[in-house]
Amino acid sequence: MNLNVSELHGTLRERLRLRSRLLKLVPRGERVTRMTGWADLDNSPLGEGAIHRALDNHQGHLIHKWRHYPDVYDEVLAGYRNGFPLPDGGYRPIRLIEIGVSEGGSLEFWREWFGPDAQIVGIDIDPSCADLVDPSVATIRIGSQADPDFLRSVVDEMGGVDIVIDDGSHVASHQKVTFDTLWPRLSTNGMFLIEDTHTTYWPGFEGGLRRPGTAIEEAKQLVDDMHARYYIEAGEDAASEPRHPDLWSVAFYDSIIVMRKRSARTPARITRGTQVRPASDWAEEGY
Ligand SMILES: C[S@@+](CC[C@H](N)C(=O)[O-])C[C@H]1O[C@@H](n2cnc3c(N)ncnc32)[C@H](O)[C@@H]1O
Repeated sequence: MNLNVSELHGTLRERLRLRSRLLKLVPRGERVTRMTGWADLDNSPLGEGAIHRALDNHQGHLIHKWRHYPDVYDEVLAGYRNGFPLPDGGYRPIRLIEIGVSEGGSLEFWREWFGPDAQIVGIDIDPSCADLVDPSVATIRIGSQADPDFLRSVVDEMGGVDIVIDDGSHVASHQKVTFDTLWPRLSTNGMFLIEDTHTTYWPGFEGGLRRPGTAIEEAKQLVDDMHARYYIEAGEDAASEPRHPDLWSVAFYDSIIVMRKRSARTPARITRGTQVRPASDWAEEGY
């Protein structure tokens, strides 16, 4: 990347500003001292996907994401391009919450992407975010993602939520409160994203490799929860109940976790075609 002096200064200024903003969020006394990722600012064009082009064309307030996030968005948001899918094959406007307003640029982008009918709410703890974006772009609610009553009140006002993007404090205990509070309120067929989950490994965000309670450890636990009926049936932890019977999938990407919700289901097998081996062969296979 060739930069002239004033562009270089602009880039450095932006990096320093983002770094000091991030440090403000980290609990006192536990600063992350080595943030290798911040060295990788690369503002060359993102590519030819629709969401990549839309991001490249964004001209409003600053959006701050990682370069590979549009690839993830492209994959997971495809089903919501026309709105929220309804059982009759139709669509209704999306209801989206993004936690973490910062400059308001990503809220502007979600408005550009989901169109004028979407209901978009930004949550931030910083009161200076309240007037950052035009009310036609998003409603801003000031409060903490660690406050379940506040989160519940936001969703109640919206009449429900279809997509949650947690890009707020990135502090493990906050992320857990947010997920535990908002997952039960998420629409069936809705989606919950947690961004910047690399902070799971950083002590300044209550993180650490395999440290219980971090977003990545909690999401790994969801994988077991999803299969609870099978280990309960096998006699393991037989007193437990599946905690999230409506959890359809948990997907791990670099620094993003995506959880999708569907109606709780009782798994059933199917058969098609003609059986050619005796039934006793199947019984021997034991499933
Ligand atoms: C990484 S920035 C958000 C970036 C923005 N979503 C974007 O893509 O450009 C994090 C934001 O989370 C906010 N924040 C920090 N702690 C919070 C908390 N406990 N509850 C809600 N927001 C919080 C900060 O004030 C900051 O604006």
